[in-house]
Amino acid sequence: MSKLFTPVTLGAPNGPGLALRNRTVLAPMCQYSVTNHDGVPHQWHLTHLGARATGGFGLVFTEATAITAQGRISDQDTGIWNDEQVSAWAPIVEFIHSQGAAAGIQLAHAGGKASTYPWLPKFIGANSVGSMDVGTGGWETLSASATDALGLRVPTIMSFDDISASISAWAQAATRADAAGFDVVQIHAAHGYLIHQFLSPLSNQRTDDYGGSYENRTRYLREVIKAVRSAWPAHKPLAIRFSGEDWVQDGWRISDTVRFAAEAYELGVTSFDISSAGIGTYHGPSGPGYQVSLAAAVKAAVPESFVTAVGMINEPEQAEQILVTGAADGVSIGRAALKNPNWPAVAATVLHEPRENTPFAEQYWRAHW
Ligand SMILES: Cc1cc2nc3c(=O)[nH]c(=O)nc-3n(C[C@H](O)[C@H](O)[C@H](O)COP(=O)(O)O)c2cc1C
Repeated sequence: MSKLFTPVTLGAPNGPGLALRNRTVLAPMCQYSVTNHDGVPHQWHLTHLGARATGGFGLVFTEATAITAQGRISDQDTGIWNDEQVSAWAPIVEFIHSQGAAAGIQLAHAGGKASTYPWLPKFIGANSVGSMDVGTGGWETLSASATDALGLRVPTIMSFDDISASISAWAQAATRADAAGFDVVQIHAAHGYLIHQFLSPLSNQRTDDYGGSYENRTRYLREVIKAVRSAWPAHKPLAIRFSGEDWVQDGWRISDTVRFAAEAYELGVTSFDISSAGIGTYHGPSGPGYQVSLAAAVKAAVPESFVTAVGMINEPEQAEQILVTGAADGVSIGRAALKNPNWPAVAATVLHEPRENTPFAEQYWRAHW
């Protein structure tokens, strides 16, 4: 049996944890498809996530789902700030479960990267990229600092009241995620969005308790974790997605990520997914597995946690190798799963898994051969 298709349990502070049928994880991917602009997921989200559940993923993550309307990247993002959204997510979660996959939600606040045009060809083709202005469908954005480092409209600095209101919103979103039936919450702390804006010296120029030293820049995330962990049931795993590196000398570095992951584990975060970058121009490497070494550093520092690697992990043998060498416990698959929703089931056949262990939907079982 391959490592990739060896079941695993994602630990939680209380209880047995969450059993996953295999170690393939659908990476969170924005769909920019809420054309009603109300954050309510619909048939597209059911079909998109449902197809990847039938395709065999062990854990299916939603796209970045906003904890407040103001925290949306675009006005076509999904949300989880009201009960109508909970009711719309619940049947999607139920379908994912019916296919043998676990359901995770990525909770997100875009901060100073909110209020942008949806990243879809029709907008890009019309040259509608970057900030959507207030008055033309956009809204005021908030961040740690009034910085232009994000390459977008300069956001408003968050006051202490804004910070405490946002922390309540993270907790309420976690409560709602539980009500919708999700198994895992992943806090989006990557890609230059609000939490990363606090973590990184590139975007955080505050001189109060939330800026300056490592201790101060990580304070917001520590408070978010504590609030979410107390709202989210202790028997359910809590995860974080980090940008492990800004790939800039004076930015947020892998040493910071490793240090913080160990602290987060003590606060009840049992899983980490390690991506990179998101603030300003990209200075990092590219190519197959270009972020695996970042995941490996976190895995080495917090061996008890469940760590996933992400980024151009496209081939089954490549994924297997990452796990066999101990660099990570699982793999998050993004674009390869857009190309092929059955990526895990096909990977199982490539790795010569027996049919019983090949996660094709029952209806597709004859595709095993
Ligand atoms: C269409 C698309 C949407 C994405 N949206 C998100 C998102 O909502 N949240 C997130 O953390 N990353 C997002 N990403 C990044 C992916 O999760 C992943 O980290 C990245 O694509 C690298 O993995 P890959 O090479 O397997 O695609 C998105 C990527 C794509 C292609």
